[in-house]
Amino acid sequence: MTQQTLIFAHRGASGTYPENTMDAYKAAAEAGADGLEVDVQLSKDGVPVLIHDETVNRTTNGEGWVKDLTYEELQTMDAGSWFHDDFSHATIPSLEELLIWLRGQSLYLNIELKTGIVHYPGIENAVIKLIKQYDLIDRVILSSFNHYSLVTVRQLHPTIETAILFMEGLYEPWDYAKTVGAQSLHCSLPVAVPKLLMAAAEADTPVRPFTVNERSHMKALFQAKCAAIMTDWPEQALQVREEITK
Ligand code: G3P
Ligand code: MG
Repeated sequence: MTQQTLIFAHRGASGTYPENTMDAYKAAAEAGADGLEVDVQLSKDGVPVLIHDETVNRTTNGEGWVKDLTYEELQTMDAGSWFHDDFSHATIPSLEELLIWLRGQSLYLNIELKTGIVHYPGIENAVIKLIKQYDLIDRVILSSFNHYSLVTVRQLHPTIETAILFMEGLYEPWDYAKTVGAQSLHCSLPVAVPKLLMAAAEADTPVRPFTVNERSHMKALFQAKCAAIMTDWPEQALQVREEITK
């Protein structure tokens, strides 16, 4: 039997909870998601923290670049009220906080290295160190739009899965991925057309498109048996997957 398409909760269950918070991750697990996608940046004092943007301005009540704030300073910020008053208790999680919780779960974890705008020297090493410390190498996929980061990951660790992130028409990405030591393709939804999915399957290369929030797109990708989808709405995706396998 071919393995069914996995459902990764994009920034956690970010349709219903503030993105990249423990609330969003725990809600995804409760909904029955197979995995999480999280975004990692580095604090001023070198702590890997989970936040999508390079600044805290959009998703907290604070201001400034993550790279200019210490972990302690980041911890004082409210990372939930921007989404809804009910989440004023939410903070910016450290990667370590997530991994400690994840040890007791069976979820896969896709950590996106946000090294496209700020380069964060040493981030790859800091992330791998934590994954090894919590013995989660076999459940983690590291991805990045900055493919130099993926090369660094491969130099630091021979087997941890890496995935190239891309938005537009990369030619024969399964071949290109090999040149940076990556095993899989994380492409934007419009790129994931049947022709690409079929050719990637021929090349034995997993594809996990983002961000798949429409039921019709979920259905098409489940039917195409792609490796996984990333969605803000894991609960709905689970329903759609169940409906088509009935
Ligand atoms: O990793 C997939 C996706 O999260 C990439 O884009 O901007 O949502 O982090 P973004
Ligand atoms: Mg991301």
